Amino acid sequence: LADRLFEDAQLAALYDSMCPRAERWDFDFYLPMVMSAPAVLDVGCGTGMMLHEARDAGHAGRLCGLDPAAGMLAQARRRADVEWVEGDLVSAGFEAQFDLIVMTGHAFQVLVEDAEIEAALAAARRALRPGGRFAFETRNPAARAWESWTIRHPVRMTAPDGHQAMMTRQVTAPFDGRTVAFTHTFEADGWPEPVVSRSTLRFLDLAELDAFLGAAGFRVAALYGDWDGSTLAETSPEIIVIAD
Ligand SMILES: C[S@@+](CC[C@H](N)C(=O)[O-])C[C@H]1O[C@@H](n2cnc3c(N)ncnc32)[C@H](O)[C@@H]1O
Repeated sequence: LADRLFEDAQLAALYDSMCPRAERWDFDFYLPMVMSAPAVLDVGCGTGMMLHEARDAGHAGRLCGLDPAAGMLAQARRRADVEWVEGDLVSAGFEAQFDLIVMTGHAFQVLVEDAEIEAALAAARRALRPGGRFAFETRNPAARAWESWTIRHPVRMTAPDGHQAMMTRQVTAPFDGRTVAFTHTFEADGWPEPVVSRSTLRFLDLAELDAFLGAAGFRVAALYGDWDGSTLAETSPEIIVIAD
C-alpha cells in the first residue's frame, strides 16, 4: 500500500498546496513531451495536476493517469476529461498503448525492492508502442537531498479550505546505500493533532539504474541533471532519464 500521505483523503487534499505549480519545474520540463505524444500514461499521477494542465493546454489525444492511492486519485477525479485508473504498472497490464510514459514527482523512488523495479520497468516496456519513450527522474544519491529533510525546513501552505498548514520531514533511517526512511508530519489549524505519514524511498545511482533499464530492454536516449536541461554531473540534484 502507498503511504498515508497518498491514501488519506485529508492529506491528499493538501498535496497541491504543498507542491504548488509555480515550483513544479519538472512539469515545465515534461509538458512539451506530453503535448507532442498522442497517447500518454502518467504513472503515479497523484492528484493529476500535470495531465489536467495538458488537457487545458489543448492535448486532444489519450491522457491516462495511473495511481494505486485512493486519496490522490479522488483529487485527480475531480476532472473527468482525463482517464484515471487505480493501480500500478503491473496490475494495469497495458499492452502497446502509449507513446509516452512519465513518472514525475520522484514517483519512481517509491519502487524500493529490486523485484518491484524490474516488474515495473518490464510492464512499462510492454505498455509502450514501438518507438515509445519512458521519461522519469530519481534523486541523485550523491546530492544527499535527505540531509535537508529536518524540522528546520518546514513547508508552510494554505489548505484548500483556507486553513494554514505546515509539513515537516524527519529522517528515521538514514541512507544505507539503498534507501532512506522518513516521516512527513502535517499540522493544520483546526486539526486536533498532527498527522504522520511514513515513507521509504530508494536511491539508485546511474550505474544501478542503467543496469535495471538495460535488463528491461530500454536504451537511455538522454540524461539530464536538473530541470533546466543541464548535463548530469557528479552531484546534480536529479538523474532525469529519457529511455526508449
Ligand atoms: C510524490 S507523489 C507524485 C505525484 C505526481 N506524480 C506529482 O508529480 O505530483 C508519488 C505518487 O506515487 C504513487 N505510488 C505509490 N506507489 C506506486 C506504485 N507502485 N506505482 C505507481 N505509483 C505509485 C503514490 O500514490 C503517489 O501518488
